[in-house]
Amino acid sequence: MLPKVLWNLHRIHDFATDILKQHGRTGEFMGPWFTKMNYLITSDPMNVHHIMSKSFDNYVKGPEFREIFQVFGLGIFTSDSETWRYHRSLLLSLFKNRKFEMFLEKTIQKKLKGSLIPTLEYAKQQGIEVDLQDIFNRFTFDNICSIVLGYDPNCLSIDFPHVACEKAFNEAEESIFYRHVVPKSVWKLLEWLQIGEERKMSEACKVFDQFIYSCIASKREELSKYNNKSQIDESHPQVDLLSTLMMMREEESKKSQSQTLVHDDKFLRDTAFNLFVAGRDTITSALTWFFWLIAKNPLVEAKILEEIKENFGANNNHDIKHNVLSIEEVKKLVYLHGALCESLRLFPPIPFESKQAINGDVFPSGYHVSPNTTILVSLYSMGRFEEIWGKDCLEFKPERWISEKEGIIHVPSYKFISFNAGPRTCLGKDLSFMQMKMVVAAILCNFCIQVVEGHEAKPSLSIVLLMKDGLKVRITKREV
Ligand code: HEM
Repeated sequence: MLPKVLWNLHRIHDFATDILKQHGRTGEFMGPWFTKMNYLITSDPMNVHHIMSKSFDNYVKGPEFREIFQVFGLGIFTSDSETWRYHRSLLLSLFKNRKFEMFLEKTIQKKLKGSLIPTLEYAKQQGIEVDLQDIFNRFTFDNICSIVLGYDPNCLSIDFPHVACEKAFNEAEESIFYRHVVPKSVWKLLEWLQIGEERKMSEACKVFDQFIYSCIASKREELSKYNNKSQIDESHPQVDLLSTLMMMREEESKKSQSQTLVHDDKFLRDTAFNLFVAGRDTITSALTWFFWLIAKNPLVEAKILEEIKENFGANNNHDIKHNVLSIEEVKKLVYLHGALCESLRLFPPIPFESKQAINGDVFPSGYHVSPNTTILVSLYSMGRFEEIWGKDCLEFKPERWISEKEGIIHVPSYKFISFNAGPRTCLGKDLSFMQMKMVVAAILCNFCIQVVEGHEAKPSLSIVLLMKDGLKVRITKREV
């Protein structure tokens, strides 16, 4: 089956969807015997519910996954059992903190006003063609650096500076994708020889590690100037995650010596890397596909604008053109929420996931699972099945998410899987919706986005569903 996959690599997610449709949504992939590339692929909601929730303990990321995703270190994405539980509860306590939400809101509002809107304004005035995906990548990179490291590298500005570390991320993710489609013996050999994709990966890692370790060192130096946590709290009322983790460790070590993980530099590096991938490219991908869909569906765009005007128009003493909305305000935008869900259904930023079965099992659909089987779940295919979404499953219809009472219809996560399901559900789901709504409202109220004629939106070959050639657009003034 491998030659067929390689032949269809440019449309791998649609190819997988076609094959899964023909085989009742679950099937086996058999590579040549010497490659050990045998996978069980599924996008059946009942199987997914079984893997992600009901038999959660039997389906782990496993050692093979950690090898492929080596660059992630031992962070939340790659770990299992106790280590994962530690990361999860640590991040959960940080994300649920009201202070953190306020810090996030301020950071995003500042970046929107200070960088995103001025950059789009400049592109509008110059009448130049810009890559909206690149703009979102820079925007989310600056945001995630500020939130995680407390440092804004200012990638997003009108001169579009080259930021090596920002590029290094994309390259590392593309190389990880290749590790999924070539036999392990091949990528191991390339790694050993340091050529091709593996060389790209090593170089990208070096660039990234240099950046992050220098941020950790300067943060340690900065914090060492203070005698205790209350002094830091006074001078930094809203702090980044790195400082919080460093201070937390200090506090906890005073209380107990039996800490599961030491917050040393490697731990901080791995946590930061995982949060970068979690919170940066996913948002870029979601926003890029969303704006492409909106450009193709002007009626949806008009309805979103209508909803914003109804809630925050001139009658409500709001200057929507010059102000950015707050977290509380965007909660009112129900139709926009539906439109974002619809876009995430069709283009899930993480298009597939991999799990390993510890013990033998039988799926609800009747498939026998042998111990150690690698299971691939196609999140992309799950958004495109008639059995789940109806005959119009390939259409972009935000209305399918809106109830008669004008609220959001709840769809169980094992059907709407874009944020994962079960105990490993995405921790940043609510934060993502807030951030995306703030960005969409700020852009749509100020600008019209037109996709350049002839530009084809093709998915990239990466673990995150970005657009291969970016999203080329022209920007004009919005007359509200
Ligand atoms: C549109 C945006 C996003 C989407 C579609 C998304 C989707 C996902 C998916 C599918 C997973 C499971 C991945 C796996 O286990 O292999 C995941 C996990 C995770 N996400 Fe998100 N994510 C988004 C944004 C964010 C943001 C902004 C953050 C926080 C900064 C975040 C934090 C996490 C974390 C920490 C996990 C690991 C959860 C665990 O393993 O327990 N995500 N996300």
